[in-house]
Amino acid sequence: MAFIIDGKKISAEIKEELRETVAALKEKGVSVCLAVIQVGDDPASSVYVGNKKKACAFIGIESRAFELPADISQEELMDLVGDLNADPSVDGILVQLPLPSHLNEKEVTRAISPEKDVDGFHPQNVGALSIGEEGFVSCTPAGIIQLLKRSGIEIEGKECVVVGRSNIVGKPMAMLLLRENGTVTVCHSRTKDLPKVCSRADILVAAIGKPRFFDDTYVKEGAAVIDVGIHRGDDGKLCGDVDFQKVKDKVSAITPVPGGVGPMTIAMLMYNCVEAAKRKTTS
Ligand code: GUN
Repeated sequence: MAFIIDGKKISAEIKEELRETVAALKEKGVSVCLAVIQVGDDPASSVYVGNKKKACAFIGIESRAFELPADISQEELMDLVGDLNADPSVDGILVQLPLPSHLNEKEVTRAISPEKDVDGFHPQNVGALSIGEEGFVSCTPAGIIQLLKRSGIEIEGKECVVVGRSNIVGKPMAMLLLRENGTVTVCHSRTKDLPKVCSRADILVAAIGKPRFFDDTYVKEGAAVIDVGIHRGDDGKLCGDVDFQKVKDKVSAITPVPGGVGPMTIAMLMYNCVEAAKRKTTS
């Protein structure tokens, strides 16, 4: 049976560290504030936003909520983002995605000041990551690096295979593994002989968005497996992209679903907010 990489425990550790950092910043007169914008009342988004607000409250970050009607215009949303960019009391701005279809997500994402882009979605931050400069990194892949490091899994010199090439997970994941001196392969829907390529991996990151897709034919003996997926299976249970039961006895370490990668995304969002506040003290 593999070592279970406990994302709940590691995310709790990070949040505890951040709570101490925020308390120390407060002593110096520095507060931390995250503006959270939600458009409409999509139930899944409401759960995510609620969890983000709860994490802020635990750490001592002020969360300023903007709950906007689903029919808000692009101009009104852009104006709000502009106001928050200009407001020195706001350190981070988060626009919960997806937005209703009449709104232009790309334009909104680009309107957020890169210095307040705690999601790490702005092209300036994406570019900074790819050329090794300082900037905000997308929270889920940043969280995966923390899971590996804090579980004692070395990345340097390892064969790392990332399955999925999204802008939010796959591509920044590849960049981060490269930054840690991994040897990185990115696979996608047109990759030929996916089981063969995945079986090369010392570290396999599964972010394909298909429930229980990866079985034991995709993993090398002793590999570390990171499962980014979260789905509701036919049996009503939550599951990931990896068939946990079929791979758990072949690999050396694996993230569970739930309780693996999921909790790390919010912990790293909180980390980015604290970084944004710290940077204002040095700039
Ligand atoms: N919707 C689902 N995940 C995310 C996320 O990480 N950030 C934002 N802004 N919206 C999301």
